[in-house]
Amino acid sequence: MKDSRIKLGVNIDHVATLRQARRDIDPDPVAAAQVARQAGADMIVCHLRRDRRHIQDADLAKLCRLKGETHVELADDPKMVAAVLSARPTSVCLVPERPGEVSTEGGLDLAKNYKSLAKTVARLKKEKLEVSLFIAPEAPSVRAARNLGADVVEFDTSDYSAAKTKPEQKEQLERLELAVYMAWEMGLTAHAGHGLDYHNVAPVARVPHLSALNIGYSIVARSLFIGLRASVSEMRRLVD
Ligand code: PXP
Repeated sequence: MKDSRIKLGVNIDHVATLRQARRDIDPDPVAAAQVARQAGADMIVCHLRRDRRHIQDADLAKLCRLKGETHVELADDPKMVAAVLSARPTSVCLVPERPGEVSTEGGLDLAKNYKSLAKTVARLKKEKLEVSLFIAPEAPSVRAARNLGADVVEFDTSDYSAAKTKPEQKEQLERLELAVYMAWEMGLTAHAGHGLDYHNVAPVARVPHLSALNIGYSIVARSLFIGLRASVSEMRRLVD
């Protein structure tokens, strides 16, 4: 049984990717955020990358001034923490970031980066931000996230999304269900995302105790053909 309506976080990074292709003013990710909200997004999500390949600092500042929740992904790096804190989003998610990666590649290695993450989580919480950690759906990561003082864990769904067969997809879904249950038992809020699309989202949206899904690429890609309002509403219907 689901606890309540699952939140939809719409990631608008790739609206900015298109704009940056010409370093022009259109399409504007801030305007996209407003349309996404009107179409049913509960949160606007963006990733301020070290290389600023899509979202820029000025975008982030404007996004955080809009009404509603703004959730920002960032690397565990004091410069990025300072940049994000100056914009004051509602919540943040620490993610691994490898130079040259096409998109986030898997969850954080919490054991390897424990000391640094502990310092960053404490810094962000001192600023009264809700802190999420992007992790693999596995027990040691959930335990470490709890010990680090995270409020939220966002489970990486890329293995589920990359599954090529039904049994493989089922196995990955069960892995996610188990991890979400464990997080819930520990009092952590559970989110999930990465690689979710119109074909694979429905079973994930039905995972008990999952509070939110963060989805970007598939929604922005579909918006080219049917418009952003329609691509967000269609995802909203699949998630509900
Ligand atoms: N969650 C996190 C932590 C991410 O880094 C991303 C990609 O920016 C997403 C969710 C959204 O993934 P996608 O764009 O594949 O929907």
